[in-house]
Amino acid sequence: MQKKIVLLPGDGIGPAVTEAAASVLQQVADIFSHTFTFQEKQIGGAAIDTFGEPLPADTLQACKEADAILLGAVGGPEWDRQPPHLRPEKGLLQLRKGLGLFANLRPVKTFPSLLSSSPLKQEIVAGSDLLIVRELTGGLYFGTPSERRDEGQTVVDTLHYERNEIERIVETGFQSAMLRNKRLASVDKANVLESSKLWREIVDEKRKDYPEVAVEHMLVDSTAMKLITNPTYFDVIVTENLFGDILSDEASVLTGSLGLLPSASLRADALGLYEPVHGSAPDIAGKDIANPLGAILSAVMLLRYSFGMEKEADAVEAAVNEVLQSGFGTQDMQVKPESIVGTEKMTSLVIEQL
Ligand code: NAI
Ligand code: MG
Repeated sequence: MQKKIVLLPGDGIGPAVTEAAASVLQQVADIFSHTFTFQEKQIGGAAIDTFGEPLPADTLQACKEADAILLGAVGGPEWDRQPPHLRPEKGLLQLRKGLGLFANLRPVKTFPSLLSSSPLKQEIVAGSDLLIVRELTGGLYFGTPSERRDEGQTVVDTLHYERNEIERIVETGFQSAMLRNKRLASVDKANVLESSKLWREIVDEKRKDYPEVAVEHMLVDSTAMKLITNPTYFDVIVTENLFGDILSDEASVLTGSLGLLPSASLRADALGLYEPVHGSAPDIAGKDIANPLGAILSAVMLLRYSFGMEKEADAVEAAVNEVLQSGFGTQDMQVKPESIVGTEKMTSLVIEQL
């Protein structure tokens, strides 16, 4: 297959981890006889420095024409004092909005060799493997009015959803469950919120199209408890924007290793934006010590969700597992001092294993 991938390295450690992920993708293309073309574009602080804006029109256009987008990270202290429209993060928000990416997917999986990195007891986290599907472009963060009244002493935020916005994210939840262990927890607050009642109705309609998926309605507060007391309970969680924001950050600490976590932002067609969960880590930029695995596992999601390349995705994931199983890790992971490797070495270990 021929595929066009836009690379958005961004700032800080972004370029190093993006390069790592791209070289793994190139190896996949070589092994499985695909042709991947890579086009590099600017975003974030790097784009502000060169073009005076965080998301140049040329970058957005290239992304619209791509089959998939791989992003490093944006931001850093150099741009902290810029006005809001000249902040690196603005570029990322504009990109998600400009492409209509309404579904954010964050998988969290514990690796057997890294259980001691978790803040939770090993017997609780062992075997955790879950995916949070969060609605990204609606709900409380975008509803209007959102304002202060009565000289600021009254405040209003609006939780607004249209039926079609709920339908498409719920659909993504079911499709994700079909790609995994076919268990879906739909998380809401239907005992209080009107929006959650419509959410439940839609989930109950859609489940008829997915008879193989076991569906459970759960309330967000008890889900929050269960995520840390019994994380292996979950396969796929689908939820609205605010709940998903909070639950995905909660889930991200289960593994104890931020540098390992990937994410995807998707829409109804195959185009997706893939990026590690971590930021630009300016404290370690340029030192060849950043963990490239969050970016490499984001490339695994890219293969799976945008290209439908299941066996290629499985192969990279297995290679990463193998490398971790051999005890290797970057400095942010809890491995033996003699097994600590840098960004480039970790990447070449994965490529060799592949
Ligand atoms: P951060 O995720 O960049 O760093 C937090 C800590 O984790 C730091 O100590 C860092 O060294 C470490 N770390 C992060 N990724 C790592 C990796 N791959 N390997 C090894 N260690 C890693 O978050 P922080 O420090 O809050 O933000 C730094 C900058 O990144 C800020 O400008 C922030 O706005 C931006 N940011 C960007 C995001 C994005 O592009 N999606 C997400 C989060 C933050
Ligand atoms: Mg958050």
